Amino acid sequence: MLKNITPTTTQAWQKLQAHYNQIQAQQLRDLFAQDTERFQKLSLQFEDFLYDLSKNRITEETLDLLVTLAEETALPGAIESMFAGEKINVTENRAVLHTALRNFTDTELLLEGENILKDVRAVQQQMKTFCDNIHNGTLKGYTGKAFRHVVNIGIGGSHLGPQMVCEALKSYQQPNLEVHFISNVDGTDAAEVLKKLDPETTLFIIASKTFTTKETITNAITARSWFLQQAKNQAHVSKHFVALSTNTAEVEKFGIAPENIFQFWDWVGGRFSLWSAIGLSIACALGYNRFEELLRGAESMDKHFRKTPLRQNIPVLMALLSIWYTNFFNCQTHAILPYDQYMRLLPEFLQQLLMESNGKSTDRNGQPVTYQTQPVVWGAAGTNSQHSFFQLIHQGTILIPCDFIAAAKTNNPIGEHQALLMSNYFAQTEALMKGKNEAEVREELEKKNMAANELESLLPHKLFEGNKPTTSIMMRQLTPYNLGSLLAMYEHKTFVQGVILNIYSFDQWGVELGKQLATSIEQELLRDKKAAHDASTTNLIQYYQQNSN
Ligand code: F6P
Repeated sequence: MLKNITPTTTQAWQKLQAHYNQIQAQQLRDLFAQDTERFQKLSLQFEDFLYDLSKNRITEETLDLLVTLAEETALPGAIESMFAGEKINVTENRAVLHTALRNFTDTELLLEGENILKDVRAVQQQMKTFCDNIHNGTLKGYTGKAFRHVVNIGIGGSHLGPQMVCEALKSYQQPNLEVHFISNVDGTDAAEVLKKLDPETTLFIIASKTFTTKETITNAITARSWFLQQAKNQAHVSKHFVALSTNTAEVEKFGIAPENIFQFWDWVGGRFSLWSAIGLSIACALGYNRFEELLRGAESMDKHFRKTPLRQNIPVLMALLSIWYTNFFNCQTHAILPYDQYMRLLPEFLQQLLMESNGKSTDRNGQPVTYQTQPVVWGAAGTNSQHSFFQLIHQGTILIPCDFIAAAKTNNPIGEHQALLMSNYFAQTEALMKGKNEAEVREELEKKNMAANELESLLPHKLFEGNKPTTSIMMRQLTPYNLGSLLAMYEHKTFVQGVILNIYSFDQWGVELGKQLATSIEQELLRDKKAAHDASTTNLIQYYQQNSN
């Protein structure tokens, strides 16, 4: 089980504080100049990936101390506890076994005496048969036509992962089948998707772990009404609606036939669930074999994470860097910058993964934490983001560590596009690291023969402080396998941060209060049941009621 150690009480934490005081003013450009081996010492290769940590505000000693912190907070034992299926999600009394969904070994994995891998394989077989039958046209709609559209209706973990992966792997998509997503309870989401579709050729996947999520059930009911407007007969629903859920009873209540349910289990957290039946839309979009490649890429990262010493362990080092910046440099945010248009939804996916997992302020002893936990995760695809928020990263007043992610080989080789994209990818991390000092700006302006007074007044605005930390993650090519590996890396990073920071990463009680209040206000808006609120909320509701018709 997890040991509940307050990280700030460890010796490593005190040493890290002293070490920070020593190195915080050091310039990255000097560190590179002083050590020609810096890249070799601070980068790692894993299969098709190069993880370059050398443009971070660290030295080898920093990593050694951070690894000691991981040891002192009992990370190795925690990793084993997770893989072994111990109930480390204490506040929900559950095991955490998303890794079992991509475990292709022949050994058993026992949970309460049952080999769960048997159940996993059975659902995988069900998904495979289902996808194959859609693709080969065996499975048809109520008028005998093949399916042309699949709509995933879900939200949070039942939406973000599948949508991001489908988008990221679009170049591997099956022909003649389009995948769509409805998530927001705002009727506009459903309206805009449905107006493009034909009920005769559309399959709906209702994805909800609990099958009680208001947004998803509302959207599912809307989709069913839309379908029945044309299909007329309730019996046709079973041909067009399937469910992905752990809650079979609720699914059946909704009217979905038991044979149309793809199950998963409470030991799969919502934001870690794209590898489970929740990935059915991915398997439909890409074909089951490619979905399996995604799982195999994740499995490979799982093995690396479980077996590699902490000092060379990629997810561990990525997590330690986050703790380093958040707690010692006081960084409040972390940017995810995919230089790949296909990966543009990755920041959104990682927002849920990291912030819903580690956005906590109570430690595992039930005490308020006295240190920082999860920074804000945000970002967007390059190069577009260079023309929106990069100004602040370069010259703003807050320090923002960034992950720059790219694939060397493009899936769309057109003219010089890839070379141009990648030159920006390299240039940005170099510029962020080096900056531009006064002598360099002066020389540049003097070459332009600028008048002295103009030069002096412009000079301070053209200075770049530099020393901005970045991690470059480059893969050979964006493939299902490599994407699986990358996503598993971020999942394990999330877990490691939680373990070391002594918080529970697998619950999300923080989303409950808003849900509760919305449910009671819903009664007010729809059934006119008055309730007491603060003055602001009362007046906002009044304004809405006066203007919504
Ligand atoms: O936002 C809270 C949450 O419970 C997430 O953790 C989850 O991914 C999402 O809602 C959707 O839940 P479900 O799959 O049960 O509909």
